[in-house]
Amino acid sequence: MTASAALAPLEALFELRRGQVLPLPPNLARLYGNFRMPLRRPGPEVYSNFVSTMDGVVSLHVKGHSAGADISGFSIQDRMVMGLLRAVADVVIVGSGTLGADPRQVWTPEAICPELANDYHGLRKALAKREAALNVVVSASGNIDLRLPVFASGRVPVLIVTTPAGAKRLAKQKPPESVGIRSIRRGSGKIAPSAILDEVARVNPGKRILVEGGPRLLGSFYQERLVGEQFLTLASQIAGREAGDGRLSLVMGKTFAPRDPLWGTLTDVRRGHSALFLRYSFQ
Ligand SMILES: NC(=O)c1ccc[n+]([C@@H]2O[C@H](COP(=O)([O-])OP(=O)(O)OC[C@H]3O[C@@H](n4cnc5c(N)ncnc54)[C@H](OP(=O)(O)O)[C@@H]3O)[C@@H](O)[C@H]2O)c1
Repeated sequence: MTASAALAPLEALFELRRGQVLPLPPNLARLYGNFRMPLRRPGPEVYSNFVSTMDGVVSLHVKGHSAGADISGFSIQDRMVMGLLRAVADVVIVGSGTLGADPRQVWTPEAICPELANDYHGLRKALAKREAALNVVVSASGNIDLRLPVFASGRVPVLIVTTPAGAKRLAKQKPPESVGIRSIRRGSGKIAPSAILDEVARVNPGKRILVEGGPRLLGSFYQERLVGEQFLTLASQIAGREAGDGRLSLVMGKTFAPRDPLWGTLTDVRRGHSALFLRYSFQ
């Protein structure tokens, strides 16, 4: 049985009452309950959102079944939460692998949960957010198709953070003016997430930064200890794994335990049908 299609309210099982309660429109408040975000502090407030199977798989790595929806069982409650987290964001950042897995995606709340478009719109208005969150795509190679909707539709302001070589490759596609491209010099490795955040801040000074993945981009953010909060939906399926099958878990390309362990504090638990909606603080 897959996740239920019914958009029923989440049941709050544990709630740490800290931070600021955001003014959700009545329908969203009914569906989610109280939604808090940390009190404003200087600097970016980075939070991440993923869905995982019980055995820790976030991507099945099977053509046509690699996106989060296959993990959540197309759960409308998970989409509702994704939309909520996008609605409060100033910026949404993804890596090119996540774009590649879902190339028609645009990172707005209504794109993931159109059923609640009006409620998300009301929330952004209440938070005085005038335009859609800046969509940021990170790619060292610049191997990205600028005809995809996120770049070509004009529905969102969009920025590509890349390397000088990547920017050169992108320039050949004659990017539309609405697509910002920033290049960052790097050593032999990846672009440092702190440098990504610096470039983002030049384009959008908003502080709430949602990292929607994927696992390799998120790994770099965790390595620099830049993630303040992890939202994690635990879907009630076991995906299984074969050695070398390419299935991904929450963080890829970096290791922490046992040398450099990374522990979070559980701050919120909600239940929706058989899924758990977990929230951890890393502050
Ligand atoms: N279950 C979930 O909630 C969830 C959430 C997000 C993603 N996913 C899944 O995860 C899979 C993608 O995983 P992934 O790890 O490949 O995704 P990813 O992190 O989105 O993409 C990796 C690519 O992004 C670029 N990149 C990431 N970090 C970078 C850095 N610090 N500096 C420079 N470039 C950087 C590189 O692009 P170039 O190769 O272009 O240089 C890299 O190859 C997809 O199947 C997606 O659906 C699942």
